[in-house]
Amino acid sequence: MNILVAYSTKYGATKGLAEHIAGQLRAAGHLATVQPVNAAGELAGYDAYLIGSAVYIGHWQKEATAFVRHNRVTLARKPVWLFSSGPLGTDAVNAEGNDVRAAAGPKELAELMGAVNAREHRVFFGVLDPDKLGFRDRTIRALPAGRALLPEGDFRDWPEIDAWAGHIAQALANVPASVG
Ligand SMILES: Cc1cc2nc3c(=O)[nH]c(=O)nc-3n(C[C@H](O)[C@H](O)[C@H](O)COP(=O)(O)O)c2cc1C
Repeated sequence: MNILVAYSTKYGATKGLAEHIAGQLRAAGHLATVQPVNAAGELAGYDAYLIGSAVYIGHWQKEATAFVRHNRVTLARKPVWLFSSGPLGTDAVNAEGNDVRAAAGPKELAELMGAVNAREHRVFFGVLDPDKLGFRDRTIRALPAGRALLPEGDFRDWPEIDAWAGHIAQALANVPASVG
């Protein structure tokens, strides 16, 4: 299968996720191209799409949402998986007792899933490097509770990411290649 892994990142964490997932898909025998959503080019030649974005203040990056909306007809013709790079820290449950991954899904998730008939959406823990933050994000993190909600570190769980990529590689091994 010829798979596009398209991503939107601000500071590189989601790019790293996308590249790692593509590497796993290739190791399983697929072709995988990794591109930022804005450089994805012609989409029709791929057999499947994985689309991921970092989550900021409850939303995917605008360019990622726009990519899905704009290309929804093409994307919906093939299998689509969505992923988000979001929560920080090591707690699976937040102070309110809610599952951190479930709470981190972007607000537009149901719309995006529906637009492309996505098979699944997965949330992965992300990365925060305070030295990389732009002025606006630095200011938000400086607000009361900002540091507690946005702790520093690389919280990506590579075995969990590998398992998801492996599950997709397996699912696509059973899909007949299309003619475009
Ligand atoms: C100002 C700010 C706001 C954030 N808001 C959220 C959020 O609402 N939900 C979430 O799960 N993660 C949030 N995060 C964490 C980022 O999504 C996480 O750091 C992500 O891995 C960054 O990916 P990127 O490096 O690809 O941009 C926020 C981070 C910052 C700095």
